[in-house]
Amino acid sequence: MTTDDADKLAALDAQCFKQADAWNSGDFFSAAMDANFAFVVGERGGEIVACAGAEISADQAEVETVAVAPEFRGRGVGKKLLAELLDVLTGRGVTFVVLEVRPSNAAAVKLYDSFDFQIVERAENFYGDEDAWIMVREF
Ligand SMILES: CC(C)(COP(=O)(O)OP(=O)(O)OC[C@H]1O[C@@H](n2cnc3c(N)ncnc32)[C@H](O)[C@@H]1OP(=O)(O)O)[C@@H](O)C(=O)NCCC(=O)NCCS
Repeated sequence: MTTDDADKLAALDAQCFKQADAWNSGDFFSAAMDANFAFVVGERGGEIVACAGAEISADQAEVETVAVAPEFRGRGVGKKLLAELLDVLTGRGVTFVVLEVRPSNAAAVKLYDSFDFQIVERAENFYGDEDAWIMVREF
């Protein structure tokens, strides 16, 4: 991800998340400038169709987003991007990864489950309109 991608990534997020959960272009611009963030993007024909990103703090990281444009879902893109992101994180010395997910988000829960993330906690009313499962994976 570069700062030039910020507007496209905000447009992708708007397609993928409820307004309250989506990042705007300023959020992506700041993350692109910040060495504590690691983002990977998927492109097709010069357009960004997917992204995954995390914030790193010493040897721990929190997955902030995994998003695939609706027309590209169900083809393994999410898995490929998450694998790539985890490679980047472990390459930077991360040994513990945490994320939050809506229990109703079956596709995301299955994605994380397939990478051996374990549910460790239910955070009540985390999203305002729903609880979150906290999932972790150690390397
Ligand atoms: C979650 C998301 C990133 C998955 O991306 P994707 O490219 O469709 O995922 P993949 O094709 O790589 O599939 C990953 C796994 O999820 C499963 N899956 C995909 N869509 C599914 C669905 N609608 N329901 C249940 N499982 C689903 C796949 O079968 C696969 O598991 P498997 O290998 O065990 O069969 C995508 O649905 C998305 O962008 N959703 C909106 C944003 C979002 O909710 N992100 C997660 C925030 S925590």
